[in-house]
Amino acid sequence: MNSKNQKVGISNFEKEVCEGLTAFPKYISSKFFYDKTGDALFQKIMALPEYYLTNAEFEIFTKHASGIISSFGSSEEGFDLIELGAGDGKKTKVLLQELENRNYDFSYMPIDISKNAINNLVENLSVEMPTVHVEGHIGEYFEILDRLKHISERKKVVMVLGSNIGNLLHPKAIQFLKELNNIMNADDLVFIGFDQKKDPQKILDAYNDKSGITAAFNKNVLTRINRELSANFNLDKFIHWEAYDPENGTAKSYLVSTEKQIVDIDLLSLEVHFEAWESIHTEISQKYDDDIVTWLTKESGLEVICSFADENKEYKNYVIQKTN
Ligand code: AVI
Repeated sequence: MNSKNQKVGISNFEKEVCEGLTAFPKYISSKFFYDKTGDALFQKIMALPEYYLTNAEFEIFTKHASGIISSFGSSEEGFDLIELGAGDGKKTKVLLQELENRNYDFSYMPIDISKNAINNLVENLSVEMPTVHVEGHIGEYFEILDRLKHISERKKVVMVLGSNIGNLLHPKAIQFLKELNNIMNADDLVFIGFDQKKDPQKILDAYNDKSGITAAFNKNVLTRINRELSANFNLDKFIHWEAYDPENGTAKSYLVSTEKQIVDIDLLSLEVHFEAWESIHTEISQKYDDDIVTWLTKESGLEVICSFADENKEYKNYVIQKTN
């Protein structure tokens, strides 16, 4: 390994790729998956038959819309329904429709770092649900939440869907929940999805689909490094590998080098040496049960009020408040 990276003012991407590929064992954060191609591949993943998470959460929203809305508060109370991450709004629309039907006084505020994602969602809702008051915000979650806290006294219900928290190791998940806690007032709520522990084979299949979309999604980070950091990864010399540990509920994705090889990353003046079958760890997708969720929330000064599950109890959305 030969790192000559002494540049100043380098981007997070450059810095973290350099750190991860000069570490042992090697790693790259999954937050770098989401360039334009990565976003499109993730959309395809959500439509895969093996990727049960999206359908399970959609089922919860459709079957329990009424109970979910009632858990948010009464129709007269009034609140801002804030969603972290814009998505295509498919699941959220079910709740928005229920809120409309029951004459709730609410505003819907999606927050996303992607201007494109927010603009598409706001535009789509203005056509499909013109009577809903929608206010899109572009930027970092906690910056905007902090700003919103100071602008309005109205009750906030913050939604974190898709088991996105699962891409964080427990200490980082606690940090995330603590940051949420910091911006919450006493009567605010968090509505958050946690994918549950289940048959390990089902989890392995979800992250190693037959059509190879998840493999392409994982490998795309190498294409991104090739393009943005002038590297020469040969994608054919890496395989996608998924492992699930039923003891701790952690699913891990890797890229494994099929031969001894050297990859040049010109922008970092870095040569990365791979032994045959050496791995790069790229993602964790944590699976939970009620005990783990109770522990995570307790560590963050929060507590679970209630939860909603799909019929097979493979996925749960929890309603969480500040500990009194
Ligand atoms: C975004 N996140 C919750 C997905 C997950 O299930 O970990 C990303 C993903 N990775 C592979 N397939 C889907």
